[in-house]
Amino acid sequence: MRESQPFVKYNHEYERKLRVCFIGAGGHSFRNVYPTFQYAPVELVAICDKDGERAAAYARQFGAARTYTNHIDMLEKEQPDAAFIVTAYHPDGTVQATGLALDALARGIHVWMEKPTAASVAEVKELQAASASSGKYVMTGLKKVFFPAIEKAKELSGAPEFGRPSSIYVRYPQPMPPFEERQDLRNVTSLLDHIYHPAAVLHYLMGPIESIYFDREPHNGGSVTSIRFASGAVGTLHMTAGISGSSPLERLELVGEGANVVVDNGVKVTYHRPASRPAYGRSASYLVPDEEAPLTWEPEFSLGQLYNKNLFYLGYVPEVLYFCECVMNGTPPVKGGLDASLEIAKLFEAYCAHPDGSRVIVNPAGG
Ligand SMILES: NC(=O)c1ccc[n+]([C@@H]2O[C@H](COP(=O)([O-])OP(=O)(O)OC[C@H]3O[C@@H](n4cnc5c(N)ncnc54)[C@H](O)[C@@H]3O)[C@@H](O)[C@H]2O)c1
Repeated sequence: MRESQPFVKYNHEYERKLRVCFIGAGGHSFRNVYPTFQYAPVELVAICDKDGERAAAYARQFGAARTYTNHIDMLEKEQPDAAFIVTAYHPDGTVQATGLALDALARGIHVWMEKPTAASVAEVKELQAASASSGKYVMTGLKKVFFPAIEKAKELSGAPEFGRPSSIYVRYPQPMPPFEERQDLRNVTSLLDHIYHPAAVLHYLMGPIESIYFDREPHNGGSVTSIRFASGAVGTLHMTAGISGSSPLERLELVGEGANVVVDNGVKVTYHRPASRPAYGRSASYLVPDEEAPLTWEPEFSLGQLYNKNLFYLGYVPEVLYFCECVMNGTPPVKGGLDASLEIAKLFEAYCAHPDGSRVIVNPAGG
């Protein structure tokens, strides 16, 4: 759990709550977003879905007083502090939540939305402009940067003993369609939907990307992207389409100067602290002194603890708490903020607009 929120309060224990409306009563929100409100300073006043029966069922389940089938009606009648938006895609492949977020901002309402924020750089910039002119925040649920394991990797890599983050490897199973198909948004819904996950982690840990070179295999649509970050660091995004359904999805390794941290399967963190390698050819033991030994964290799955719920170790409650804190304290969100979404949108457009085997400048040096 984040240092700023070590003690988790239950909803009924909060004295001050945000009045919140929710747009979308679909599968993901049922499993992973509405349930976060058990632990957040949120009063869920109303739910809107185009399917009125589902909106009513969700209102009964999660304790909302009213339901709507038109989001404008809901936002104007309820005048909430914030709108949560968890919707899907228009038939042309654009993102439903983008326009809904603009509608909320135009009415002076803060927005928390699921990824993807938008299907293009231009639309993220439109959201940035609307956020600036309304003075209201937009935060996207970039859950990966709220995983306790990823937050730990960030904390460790920021310590002086780690040195500068110099290279990174991120693995994520995601196919990419052939280049000829990538200009039509309807063909890249899955890529847009999921690129937010590894790209959010890369941006959080390494900062903006300067350029990429990528290649793709035709059997599964897997790809390897070689990345140069604006910081001078380098990285690899291995999109491992074709892995087994029994395999963990993700792995990350971040290297500093004489230290490295590995995150396996989103939960296991191994920190290889600065240590001297035992003398080559003459060392009988690989066991370095205790004070230099690697540190490992992994959850126990025995106790009925909050940290054993995916709502916590997959970052869902922490990201919602962060948004609530930002709104209540009047501080714009950095994690999940529109600047992060803009960088992710640039990477997505780079893949769509360039054939495999291209080197693409994502952010011109010094620009
Ligand atoms: N972060 C994660 O772990 C994660 C996991 C799964 C899905 N997601 C994201 O969650 C979102 C939703 O996915 P899902 O599988 O639940 O989709 P879904 O299709 O099950 O649900 C979307 C709901 O939005 C409603 N809706 C659409 N437009 C609306 C409007 N204008 N007004 C009111 N209701 C409207 C639909 O009627 C539907 O009930 C997607 O953006 C997806 O990328 C995130």
